[in-house]
Amino acid sequence: MPSVLITGSNRGIGLEFTKQLLSKNWDCIATCRDENKNDDLRELSKIFPDKIIIEQMDVLDHKSIDNLAVKLKNRKIDMLINNAGILGPRSSDKTSQFFGNMDYDYWDLVHKTNTVAPFKVVEAFFGNLEISKQKKIVIISSTVGSNIEMQAPIFSYASSKAAATKVFTLLSKVLREKGYNIYIFCPGHVKTEMGSEDADLDVEESVEGMVKLIENLKSSQTGHFLRYNGEKVKY
Ligand SMILES: NC(=O)c1ccc[n+]([C@@H]2O[C@H](COP(=O)([O-])OP(=O)(O)OC[C@H]3O[C@@H](n4cnc5c(N)ncnc54)[C@H](OP(=O)(O)O)[C@@H]3O)[C@@H](O)[C@H]2O)c1
Repeated sequence: MPSVLITGSNRGIGLEFTKQLLSKNWDCIATCRDENKNDDLRELSKIFPDKIIIEQMDVLDHKSIDNLAVKLKNRKIDMLINNAGILGPRSSDKTSQFFGNMDYDYWDLVHKTNTVAPFKVVEAFFGNLEISKQKKIVIISSTVGSNIEMQAPIFSYASSKAAATKVFTLLSKVLREKGYNIYIFCPGHVKTEMGSEDADLDVEESVEGMVKLIENLKSSQTGHFLRYNGEKVKY
């Protein structure tokens, strides 16, 4: 059976990926940073007891990533989904990511979470991907990071996603010869804690679209930046 490791799988888009891939018979390594916040995953493990393992991993803590990589050494992983992410301060928060009132510590945190951590996760679990024939890596980026499509002046988040897209575009070139397929997705504006109730897309539809892409993309499309529905993102 194919196997996947998903970061930030306890809620939102990560949880929905876990649900949909389990129901498509994938073995899931569902990671989340806080063992007290994995109730939905534990419910899933009652339905799919042999298909899911739940592991603690805080993507900001490189030791926690390395510890899990050591624990899973020599276990085949066919696909890594780099989903964990943070938005940074909202306009209603005291602290801000707008010009004139920037919280620089937060900017650093957003960059480490959204850009640096996914790269570290790939490095840490590279040995597991090497055993696989599929060798798939997914990064959930955002059109907010596109220079052409969106101009929302949320500096921390927008720059972290622009950088994540760049990093995984480069990585797709570096790993192409070794048979890796790297998918850079924008999930759309999705109703999750991050996307809020005002978003136009249900999480089920967004993830269904990305799973379909994962199943159907050709290796010549490695490194493409695509919306959940397959449209190319201009960046
Ligand atoms: N929703 C949208 O409209 C939208 C649009 C474009 C892109 N995206 C991207 O899609 C991805 C998922 O977003 P979402 O909408 O599902 O957001 P969400 O509901 O806020 O969920 C974020 C997930 O990331 C986890 N996470 C955050 N920091 C982490 C860390 N240091 N270590 C491990 N896990 C961590 C959270 O865990 P905790 O529960 O422990 O906080 C949670 O599971 C993000 O990368 C986001 O930027 C979302």
